[in-house]
Amino acid sequence: MLPMLQVTGLSAGFEDVPVLDGVSMTATPGSTVAIVGPNGAGKSTLLKAVYGLARVRSGRVVFRRDGAEHDITGWPPHRLTALGLNYVPQTDNVFAALSVRENLLLGATARPRQALARMERLLVEFGPLRTVLDRPAGALSGGQRQSLAVARALMSEPVLLLLDEPSAGLAPSAVGTVFGHLARLRSEGLTIVIVEQNARLVLARADNAYVLEGGRNRYEGPGPELLQDARVVELYLGGGAHATTPATPAAADQ
Ligand SMILES: Nc1ncnc2c1ncn2[C@@H]1O[C@H](COP(=O)(O)OP(=O)(O)OP(=O)(O)O)[C@@H](O)[C@H]1O
Ligand SMILES: [Mg+2]
Repeated sequence: MLPMLQVTGLSAGFEDVPVLDGVSMTATPGSTVAIVGPNGAGKSTLLKAVYGLARVRSGRVVFRRDGAEHDITGWPPHRLTALGLNYVPQTDNVFAALSVRENLLLGATARPRQALARMERLLVEFGPLRTVLDRPAGALSGGQRQSLAVARALMSEPVLLLLDEPSAGLAPSAVGTVFGHLARLRSEGLTIVIVEQNARLVLARADNAYVLEGGRNRYEGPGPELLQDARVVELYLGGGAHATTPATPAAADQ
């Protein structure tokens, strides 16, 4: 099966700061792909470079859907959203001063006529958001806000969702809620590329995973296999503030 997303030899960064150095990755249709690695590895930059928010110096990003192939290298976000990709940043991913309803409707600006019907459908799946529709997004709990950020991205009816650390800073119960959403979306066939601080959680669920380090590919393979790989465990657990620290590092992964 041809990949839906194919990143080849991508070098990208910000203004004069090079971050990614020849990174490659693919996501086949319907798969969940995890991007993990230490702080500063370039994980967020990879998502931003795909979504037109970082400067691409060289390399190629290809997106395929419905039998058509699009070279989307350097495309701006609004064009990508219209094509079927969407992106949920780690922070500032909702408009705090706007209501939940306004946030959702703004997510569908590429398809305004279907917006209300789409919102109704999403509110079936994201039930708790219905009770806070008129509340400002800034007044939501962390978990509700992440649910809203994901639902808002889904308003554009993407086939590929790029997610940057959706569980960061959430209470354990809220992490469960967010991963519950992701499991359901995956079962519905959505292709997901997820950057996640909680490597254990995400690798266990990822069809494929990439470990980045220093802006380069370091390891890749099926998520559960990487989770068993001592080199990966060592690299990741050696990372910075985001690394989770189990009581017995190696045994915790068995
Ligand atoms: N807007 C920016 N301008 C300049 N440099 C940046 C910018 N954003 C990130 N960087 C730098 O790029 C490098 C990679 O950052 P990036 O945010 O992609 O890492 P990350 O793997 O997502 O890390 P974390 O786990 O902390 O989120 C870091 O050295 C960072 O300082
Ligand atoms: Mg990041």
